[in-house]
Amino acid sequence: MSEDASDLDSVSCLMRVLGIETSCDETGLAIFDTESGLLGQVLYSQIDLHADYGGVVPELASRDHIRKIKPLTAELLKQCSIQLDDLDGIAYTSGPGLMGALLVGATFARSLAWSLNVPAIEVHHMEAHLLAPLIAADADLPDLPFIALLVSGGHTQLVQVNDVGDHSILGESVDDAAGEAFDKVAKMMGLSYPGGPAISIAAVDGDPMRFTFPRPMTDRPGLDFSFSGLKTHSLNTVKANEPLTSQDIADIAYAFEHAVVETLFIKCRRAIEQTGIPRLIMAGGVSANTKLRQKLATDLEAEVFYPPPEFCTDNGAMIAYAGAIRLARGERAPLEINTRARWPMDQLVS
Ligand code: KG4
Ligand code: ZN
Repeated sequence: MSEDASDLDSVSCLMRVLGIETSCDETGLAIFDTESGLLGQVLYSQIDLHADYGGVVPELASRDHIRKIKPLTAELLKQCSIQLDDLDGIAYTSGPGLMGALLVGATFARSLAWSLNVPAIEVHHMEAHLLAPLIAADADLPDLPFIALLVSGGHTQLVQVNDVGDHSILGESVDDAAGEAFDKVAKMMGLSYPGGPAISIAAVDGDPMRFTFPRPMTDRPGLDFSFSGLKTHSLNTVKANEPLTSQDIADIAYAFEHAVVETLFIKCRRAIEQTGIPRLIMAGGVSANTKLRQKLATDLEAEVFYPPPEFCTDNGAMIAYAGAIRLARGERAPLEINTRARWPMDQLVS
């Protein structure tokens, strides 16, 4: 990756990489072909399984990945009309994520790679998210370096990307991730899981004038985030207005969503000013948020790239794509199976 954000143009031989994502509550598999692009993908979401708990239950997640991973592989091969023997590499999410869930994907991927005698490739879940805007064959590729806003259920980070694996973290959440705050605020108002889409839908009928929520850590320098105070502010507003009418829910949802969007926008603008890099990729589940996409695309003085909504939340395509890039660079997983609950992005090798 030297001029723009893809190495695949320079890959002379055809490679087909199976990508396997099991870091949280989605079992996602896809096959990426270095000549033809994405051949196909399958995705199974455990949302219904965890909905009653208002969040992901790790042990239930692992068991459900075990149940689904083999039939989904068979379904994917059929969809792509290819055989296991046609695969040249197996990429899997090695971290960060839920340990048990990661182990399911890692052991399955490693066993498959062994049996086919092809390389296995460890993929960093957040690196895969940030490369996701580049999956589509006709994707507009940003020049390097660029800034990435990674906003998911587990992470909120601003990262300077100099090359694949060459990242520096400019700022991150000191407490909750933005997606986690969406999920918790939705839960306190009795909205469904995952909270992001539920809050966005409720906010459509919200009165913009009724509540103004704080924009945490925007009044001091730096690029770190904090969402726990906003969560507490939301809880206090909920308590002060109980029992909530549907209009109360809409108004709180509006104020909360608006505050998160504004906060992310302010920090992105600051990151661009501070680095002088006017290119931003946004990725991760929260980047599916329509208001955030609109705000960054219209008000940020920068080129903004974001994945199609299907590649914003967890999926196998981003793992297959990131795996293909790393395989093309000659990377192979070591013999031992590594899974990491925590894996800071700046520890990645380029
Ligand atoms: O990237 P992702 O699928 O999984 C993790 O790696 O965490 O992100 C899931 C998070 C959840 O917290 C969910 O509420 C949030 O992304 N999310 C959204 C939207 N869609 C998903 N947040 C705001 N607006 C959305 N439209
Ligand atoms: Zn994710």
